[in-house]
Amino acid sequence: MARISNPNEVLEQLNKVRQVRQYEDKPISPDVVAQLLEIARWTGSSRNTQPWHFIVIDDKEKLKAISELRTPINWVAEASIAIAIVLDGEKENSEAYDEGRVTERLMIASHLLGLGAGTAWYGDEPLQEKGKEILGIPKERTARSVVAIGHRISAKDPRPNPAASGRNPISEIVSHNEFGKSWK
Ligand SMILES: Cc1cc2nc3c(=O)[nH]c(=O)nc-3n(C[C@H](O)[C@H](O)[C@H](O)COP(=O)(O)O)c2cc1C
Repeated sequence: MARISNPNEVLEQLNKVRQVRQYEDKPISPDVVAQLLEIARWTGSSRNTQPWHFIVIDDKEKLKAISELRTPINWVAEASIAIAIVLDGEKENSEAYDEGRVTERLMIASHLLGLGAGTAWYGDEPLQEKGKEILGIPKERTARSVVAIGHRISAKDPRPNPAASGRNPISEIVSHNEFGKSWK
């Protein structure tokens, strides 16, 4: 039996979670930030190591500095807040996986709360070092992304070089029992 009375509605909303890069100039309430942090806290991780620390960034100067690390993330300056994901820096693969899980949860939760969110990566290693400096993160930690969050204007990609939209069809990405054997 479904655990909620409206699973189809929630699934429909899940499919609407998009990378949001345009935000209104409007704050997010502290209660909502607290809700998002609870969602992050309860994310599953490899062996429940919870290899993370989160920095809530609402200082406009810091948001701007992060946005200036790399042109493809210049939209971060417009976000109301960003949550930086800081990893322990001990297990590269599993921490990268856990970072993806917590990022997606924050994006889903933001969407369900009526906001929009987008992941923004600092870039290659020298840029990650700069990102760490901006946020005062110890050198031995891994930090390479923030989840920017705000009141969504649009999920259109406003960048001069927008990422392709849409998704590949099920017939191309799913097999039945054996790789390459068609599913339906
Ligand atoms: C590892 C990773 C890095 C990304 N880096 C950027 C980025 O630098 N700038 C950006 O605007 N979006 C970035 N994105 C977001 C992707 O462009 C986005 O997930 C993809 O285009 C699908 O967007 P949609 O769900 O809105 O269709 C990144 C996503 C991932 C998973």
